[in-house]
Amino acid sequence: MKVFKCNVCGSVVEVLHEGERPFCCGQPMEELTEQYKEGDKHVPVIEWNDGYLVKVGNVPHPMEENHYIEWIELIVDGVVHRKYLHPGDKPEAFFKVAKGTNVRAREFCTLHGLWRS
Ligand SMILES: [Fe+2]
Repeated sequence: MKVFKCNVCGSVVEVLHEGERPFCCGQPMEELTEQYKEGDKHVPVIEWNDGYLVKVGNVPHPMEENHYIEWIELIVDGVVHRKYLHPGDKPEAFFKVAKGTNVRAREFCTLHGLWRS
C-alpha cells in the first residue's frame, strides 16, 4: 500500500502489488512516507459511532481550492475503504462498516502529503 507521487505532473498512485519502483514523466516517482505528529491538524482521528467516522485533525484541516484533503482511507482488518473529498467539503469521512480489531486510517493532503492515524 505504498504511495508514490510524480514531482513533474503531480500524479499520485497507490501500489496494489509491489514490483519495480513506478516511473512517471520519465523519472522515478517519489515514495511518500506516512507522516505522524501528535496533535497535528493532518492526523486522522478515528471515532466509532455505528460505523467509523474519520476526522482530519483535532482542529479541522482547511478545505480550500489549493490546499485540501483529497482522500481519506480507512483500513479495517486488511480491507481498504477510501473516500474522495473536494474543496468546501468537511475534512471527514464516515464509513458504514462492521467494527474491526485492527483499524487504522490515512489521508492525503494536496500540500502536505500522506498522514496516518
Ligand atoms: Fe495540509
